[in-house]
Amino acid sequence: MITITSGKGGVGKSTTTANVAVGLAQLGKKVVAVDFDIGLRNLDMILGLENRIVYDIVNVMEGECNLSQALINDKKTKNLYFLPASQSKDKNILDTDKVATLINRLKEEFDIVLLDSPAGIEGGFEHAIFLADRALIISTPEVSSVRDADRVIGIIDAKSQKAKNGDEVLKHIIINRIKPEMVEKGEMLSVEDVLNILALPLIGIVPEDEKIISSTNTGEPVIYGDSLASKAYQNIAKRILGEDVPFLELKAKKGFFGRLFQ
Ligand SMILES: Nc1ncnc2c1ncn2[C@@H]1O[C@H](COP(=O)(O)OP(=O)(O)OP(=O)(O)O)[C@@H](O)[C@H]1O
Ligand SMILES: [Mg+2]
Repeated sequence: MITITSGKGGVGKSTTTANVAVGLAQLGKKVVAVDFDIGLRNLDMILGLENRIVYDIVNVMEGECNLSQALINDKKTKNLYFLPASQSKDKNILDTDKVATLINRLKEEFDIVLLDSPAGIEGGFEHAIFLADRALIISTPEVSSVRDADRVIGIIDAKSQKAKNGDEVLKHIIINRIKPEMVEKGEMLSVEDVLNILALPLIGIVPEDEKIISSTNTGEPVIYGDSLASKAYQNIAKRILGEDVPFLELKAKKGFFGRLFQ
């Protein structure tokens, strides 16, 4: 069970969940992507599955339907399933025992459960990290995002079930929205800067890519295309499964004079 989390909102948790879920399914795993952002669902749109929702995660936890009625099977990637968040309820509806029952069911049925957590560090977030075996912590190269990621790492180490049992949640960093031009000019934190602060292993670097925005609008995750971001997500999926894949070299595009001198 892998939780995708960040602390700060809007840094790319849902985008990462959708693309990594497709990536892992393409590698042959039976995957379920769970939208745990109760009240603010988004993952359905990014996966292009919003029109197929009938029941949601709260319906399952409240016994209003069974799990298979709520699970949506992706048509394009057959071993990918999606469990939507509820739109009308809020995070306070979550109950520790019911969440645990559901997640344990999902763990029995799937190779990998990916949980897209809500922003912030309130109730919904705590439920999302409680049963995690692993966490992917998303940060953009901005000081506020890195600081919130650091705070979240501390909470995972203090409040997860693994931590309570004297064990540790396996944690990795994904740095999202890197702009090589700005890093080279010293206007943006570099990958090294972020890792120096967070002191955890890196599992992915995703460049700023406008295709991500258009793919969110069309409901087809960017991983299906052939952009750099697509490659970055494919690599993250492979690294999650233990493959040793070199990191993409993100270089600034040279301007006219740069190309001329080259
Ligand atoms: N690498 C990227 N390049 C360009 N745009 C991106 C990138 N990653 C994310 N975005 C855009 O940033 C916005 C926020 O992304 P997303 O919804 O995945 O963040 P989130 O962390 O799930 O947000 P929330 O905290 O609200 O749940 C979206 O419009 C998405 O398209
Ligand atoms: Mg989100």
